[in-house]
Amino acid sequence: MKLLIKNIGCLQTPTGSYSHKGSKQGKNMKLYDAAILVSDGIIREITENGKLPEGPFDKAIDAEGKLVTPGLVDGHTHLVFGGYRQNEIPMKLAGAGYLDILRAGGGILDTVRKTREASFAALYEKSAAFLDEMLRMGVTTCEIKSGYGLDKESELKMLEVIRALGEKHAMDVVPTFMGAHAVPPEFEGQSDAYIEMLCTEVIPEVKKRGLAEFCDVFCEDSVFTAKQSRRYLEAASEAGFDLKVHADEIEDIGGSSLAGEMEAISAEHLIAIGEDGMKAMAKGGTTAMLLPATSFYLGKHYAPARFMIEAGIPVAIASDFNPGSCPSLNLQFAINLGYLRYRMTPEEILTAVTINPACAIDRGDLIGTLEVGKRADLVIWNAPDFEMLCYRFGSNLADRVIKEGEIIL
Ligand code: NIG
Ligand code: FE
Repeated sequence: MKLLIKNIGCLQTPTGSYSHKGSKQGKNMKLYDAAILVSDGIIREITENGKLPEGPFDKAIDAEGKLVTPGLVDGHTHLVFGGYRQNEIPMKLAGAGYLDILRAGGGILDTVRKTREASFAALYEKSAAFLDEMLRMGVTTCEIKSGYGLDKESELKMLEVIRALGEKHAMDVVPTFMGAHAVPPEFEGQSDAYIEMLCTEVIPEVKKRGLAEFCDVFCEDSVFTAKQSRRYLEAASEAGFDLKVHADEIEDIGGSSLAGEMEAISAEHLIAIGEDGMKAMAKGGTTAMLLPATSFYLGKHYAPARFMIEAGIPVAIASDFNPGSCPSLNLQFAINLGYLRYRMTPEEILTAVTINPACAIDRGDLIGTLEVGKRADLVIWNAPDFEMLCYRFGSNLADRVIKEGEIIL
């Protein structure tokens, strides 16, 4: 089955299967009047300047002169959860901070109660609908974290839901175990004991069942200290997991330095990162997974993306979709914020939502760029150029989403 995607006004993509840092972050290939030949879901040939690959073709898709980019990669979500948290908004507006609500037993712990109560089927249906919405908005691969179970049984339930989504849904799903997301009520005041339980009982079981590729920890004031995070990450690393860290979201308590020192594949949030953290991450080859819609929703500062690019840290941008700090799965909005708040260039941003997150979830050789041999995951946009995506906000500009050579939406 030979598929031709023709009449591409502008094909814009980073190139190469590695994380892009420094000046490379801002380099994209742009081909005009281009076409792509696909077979068996893989890109076989790319042409430009009106030239076409050799036929015959079984099928042709007319891109009508529009922009085509790789399918977007959302490298950080918490999209499996019970309930919602709209009840927190009046508390927020009255001045309660994100950690105040958590310390009072709400926040993440509220979602934990509802996720524990929810059945596998209910969680699956709700999450599958979120993935449908993300696909319609141009995301073709996404990472999903556990972390609303916080006991062995409920964490495994979440990870089984994530596995089933990956098997049945058109979206490609990459699972992360995040048992260290908060201290559950049963372990109140005994966070060391909770971390020990995760390290000795849950991490080995997750590995044995092949339910996750990465382990993540919320290294934050009032959540887990850098020392506890280190213990958890060491156990995860020994079990054979790649590491991720929620670091410096609200306070810099050493999370980004730890991530760099332990050569974590990514550190996420980094709103409050300092110079030491940046140095450590650059040295450790750790990708900065930035979440600007969370800064927007929490009313916080924006991570110093420009400094990170200058420091030689690969920058990725993700949604952080979750019921508390970012109840939006719209990665296109994060693109707008990357432009207006981080002051990244459109080219840097495209890299940050394609190849860099792809590498940060260990998929850089399969997806994240449009090149011969890569998977034909791509988006035809209702836009002539990527600048338009950075500029228009609030609308879904995805026209058609193609996953492994099939139009799915
Ligand atoms: O990445 N910060 C920790 N985890 C999520 C929020 C989870 C929640 O509030 O439910 C985040 O922002
Ligand atoms: Fe998060």
